[in-house]
Amino acid sequence: MMPELIPVLSKEDLEKSVAGIAKRISADYRHRKPILVGVLKGAFVFLSDLIRQLTIPVKIDFIRTASYGDETSSSGTVCLTKGLEIDINGEDVLVVEDIVDSGVTLRWILDYLNGLGPASVRICALVDKRERRQIDVHVDYACHVVQEGFLVGYGLDCAEDFRHLPAVYHLKK
Ligand code: IMP
Ligand code: MG
Repeated sequence: MMPELIPVLSKEDLEKSVAGIAKRISADYRHRKPILVGVLKGAFVFLSDLIRQLTIPVKIDFIRTASYGDETSSSGTVCLTKGLEIDINGEDVLVVEDIVDSGVTLRWILDYLNGLGPASVRICALVDKRERRQIDVHVDYACHVVQEGFLVGYGLDCAEDFRHLPAVYHLKK
């Protein structure tokens, strides 16, 4: 059966929420130059739109994690497949994630980053998905809060499909 794509966030919704978050981040980090750490691959579209709305200077780096599970849920075992290239010791770090779901990946990322001696670490996520949260991680900047559903588009994938879609959809199988 063909999976069904149900619209959740339109291009306009995304533009508006990203601009709003960029404004908050620019205000909170004024006179500072945070290092934005994008979590590959899902966050690359969000990160690229976000940084062009900021009014503060930033540096950009990426990490990539893998969690072995099925297509739509995390296994609980996270490993790093690409680490940071910039030294974050003494720097303000803002993690840019696509979705926080169970919180397992983010907890792992926070432990990794905190081990490198940053001055501060905050979290920015396109979507804070609350229903399956297992670990209590605080998302400082969330563009959207949703309760449930598997989302694709705007960088988010299902088995590497749908990342290119300009809006976010609920994938109903
Ligand atoms: P967590 O460890 O369960 O919080 O899962 C985090 C990662 O799983 C996210 O960074 C996403 O890459 C992926 N993920 C979780 N929910 C979704 C979704 O609805 N669509 C696409 N990817 C998701
Ligand atoms: Mg991710």
